Amino acid sequence: MSLLSIKNIKTIAEDDHEKQILKGLNLEIEKGEIHVIMGPNGSGKSTLANTIFSSPRYIKTEGTITFDGEDITKESTDKIAKKGIFMSFQSPEEIPGVSLANYLKAVKTSIDGKKPSIYEFIPEVEKILM
Ligand SMILES: Nc1ncnc2c1ncn2[C@@H]1O[C@H](COP(=O)(O)OP(=O)(O)OP(=O)(O)O)[C@@H](O)[C@H]1O
Ligand SMILES: [Mg+2]
Repeated sequence: MSLLSIKNIKTIAEDDHEKQILKGLNLEIEKGEIHVIMGPNGSGKSTLANTIFSSPRYIKTEGTITFDGEDITKESTDKIAKKGIFMSFQSPEEIPGVSLANYLKAVKTSIDGKKPSIYEFIPEVEKILM
């Protein structure tokens, strides 16, 4: 079973229903795989990421998206995020006083409800990053 399975997804822009952007896209990603999606400007890479994330700026008109065995096609962005899908920022804003470690701790706490000990958490993050 794929970790992420996209079948025949079609997307139109919320503010221009005549504009079909994704025209029946299929993609299977297995656990542990890294995929790089490349394409010319305007080919739909950002639209794909926003579609997976159920951004309100895009409407899925056909197809399904399954993550970890669950159909997330009609799921809201916050619930998709809690399942572990994350869209990083192209140009992240620095927020004074918010360290990366504290930010990641807050994210983890909001996902599983357990506040990690900073002494155990940092080595755990470093292990994943290695
Ligand atoms: N909200 C929108 N309303 C109308 N058209 C849109 C909208 N969002 C994207 N598009 C159009 O959809 C197409 C795909 O855009 P998208 O931003 O997904 O491309 P991209 O592959 O991410 O490009 P880039 O390499 O420049 O980041 C473009 O023609 C763009 O103008
Ligand atoms: Mg883009």
